[in-house]
Amino acid sequence: MKFFLDTANLDEIKAGAALGMVDGVTTNPSLVAKEGKDFRTLVGQICEVISGPVSAEVVSTDCEGMLKEARELAKIAPNIVVKLPTIPEGVKALKILAGEGIRTNLTLIFQPLQALIVAKAGATMCSPFLGRLDDIGHDGMGLIDEIRTIYDNYGFATEVLAASLRHPLHVVQAAKAGADIGTMPYGVFSKLLDHPLTTIGLERFLSDWKKLKQ
Ligand code: G3P
Repeated sequence: MKFFLDTANLDEIKAGAALGMVDGVTTNPSLVAKEGKDFRTLVGQICEVISGPVSAEVVSTDCEGMLKEARELAKIAPNIVVKLPTIPEGVKALKILAGEGIRTNLTLIFQPLQALIVAKAGATMCSPFLGRLDDIGHDGMGLIDEIRTIYDNYGFATEVLAASLRHPLHVVQAAKAGADIGTMPYGVFSKLLDHPLTTIGLERFLSDWKKLKQ
């Protein structure tokens, strides 16, 4: 499973990249707004740090507007993936962009038919939001299972990008369910390698080692 950082914060992206475990980045309008910087400049800076896919989202809700924004975003760097909302106008835009060779990530997916339709239309990635489903008492992880089964049944190449992951257990569950990618906030990413027994065990090894007379 690939690990993406779900943030537009450059410091977090640089810290993650330094660990060598970040395969890509996803942003959204809320995450970009938190940074208070010029959108395109910021996305360009992220693409300089991360060579893998960097998702940048359009804010138009009509096909023409989405196409205009998408083509401009795609010019920023070769690793840009244009994020489109999963609405009829977004699917129209997706088909046209796929024909132009522009990669897309269809976002705000909450049920399996949305995932099936965007795969049929040629999406590069689809982003089911698991945490937000859990928030309203639905089975977020079950959606990954359903999408995985549908994509495998028909051999779709669209990657399943598990999004809205809130804690490390979500990452484990998404990996077990066969998500191709998990995107997570830096706070979750930074816990992926943790286990208290690893910390305690290492401390013990090192203190025992110091007792050895050499
Ligand atoms: O970027 C999309 C998604 O990961 C958002 O997560 O925590 O705002 O539901 P969240």
